[in-house]
Amino acid sequence: MSNDNNYSVQARTNPIFLTAKTAVHLMAQAEIPDAEKILRCLKSEENQLLQGSDSDTILGNAIVVEAKYRTMCRLIEKFGYRTCVDLPCGYTPKALHLTEKNFRFIGLDLPIVVREFAPIINSLAARPNLIKFCEVDATNYESLETALRDIDEPLCITTEGMMMYFSESEVDAVISNIRALLEMHGGCWITPDPEVKLQFILTFRSIFGESSLAKLTSTNNAATQQSNVENLSNSFILDTENISDSLKAAENLLKSHGLKFERLKFAEHMPELSIYRKLTPAQILNFKDAMRNCHCWIITLDETRTLQENVAIKPFAMSCTLDDKILRMKLRGRLDSISAPKVLTAFESENNIAEVKIDCSELDYISSAGIRVLFDINKNCSDGVILFNVNSSVAKILSQKGFFEAGVNKWKLSKNF
Ligand SMILES: C[S@@+](CC[C@H](N)C(=O)[O-])C[C@H]1O[C@@H](n2cnc3c(N)ncnc32)[C@H](O)[C@@H]1O
Repeated sequence: MSNDNNYSVQARTNPIFLTAKTAVHLMAQAEIPDAEKILRCLKSEENQLLQGSDSDTILGNAIVVEAKYRTMCRLIEKFGYRTCVDLPCGYTPKALHLTEKNFRFIGLDLPIVVREFAPIINSLAARPNLIKFCEVDATNYESLETALRDIDEPLCITTEGMMMYFSESEVDAVISNIRALLEMHGGCWITPDPEVKLQFILTFRSIFGESSLAKLTSTNNAATQQSNVENLSNSFILDTENISDSLKAAENLLKSHGLKFERLKFAEHMPELSIYRKLTPAQILNFKDAMRNCHCWIITLDETRTLQENVAIKPFAMSCTLDDKILRMKLRGRLDSISAPKVLTAFESENNIAEVKIDCSELDYISSAGIRVLFDINKNCSDGVILFNVNSSVAKILSQKGFFEAGVNKWKLSKNF
């Protein structure tokens, strides 16, 4: 398969990677060191999402991004673990910033991001020997464990801008995986993601007043559209309409995985931002005050937890035969961001397929990326996709995602999707 083809399959499986390009454009707006250089190397001069937005919306978004980025860098330095595992690393200059301070940096992200970004950072870094990138899917434990196998010290795992894109089953898988990494390596997990909605509202309100909240709705719609995720919420993300109940839900979720957390106020750890030069003194004061009510979460193992075992999942495998316009597939293990492009490529490398029949007897898990690929295939064959021998945990996910039961253990995709 050509490189262009491979890129297109990866991009259609994981459109969410585009959100990371928007983030680095916003970082350049905020004049975060090296962001502009990265954009030049990415040859990403224009950003569709930002072009469609007015200047206040872009400014509001750039403040959110800079506040998160610089506060997270501060916290990584404050906690002092010498290895930062950035999951997901996106296209940010964090690797350059941290390695200048003698930290080791491990950037983990989807294959489409890592393949493009690793050579760029390695060409810009003064100390590339301290940097490593690995292709992972955060819901896939094996990929994470393999990436960190040679690390023998505690980790500072950082997650910025990812958890809100996951469904309930995915968020549960990611938290379980991070707990297992902390069990294995020690260290902590730092993330501003649970309070991302709060951070947006408090930022926009403090800078532009109540009237600009409509701009937030347009930001939210654009993010939903770009990531192809229906609603940016799950039980890890605080609901700004009901902070106390959603805080309890997130606490219970972490507790169920043997984790505990502490909330650190942005206002107490955020350095001066370069974007302040675009604000009035009154706006800066309001903003700093608002950041007293918004937090980064420091998540660690709860010493009172009971030890949990990660359920062993079979490695992915796929077999296909084409028989009178029917493509018969058998899938094994996990259909996720890493394996789903292989299924799409297998379908697209054959012509004239009317129907796809997939034996799922050995399929253990399916993520949103896997489901997106099945939708794509379904759209492009006249008789659609049928899944059979589906186990109960995969069936539970399918039933929430626009598939309907077409017989005992047999599932079909609705043609309306
Ligand atoms: C909004 S960007 C944030 C990137 C970066 N942390 C930043 O602050 O700019 C979201 C990132 O999540 C990554 N991502 C989405 N789903 C993922 C998954 N299942 N596993 C690993 N990374 C994922 C995307 O590729 C993208 O880089």
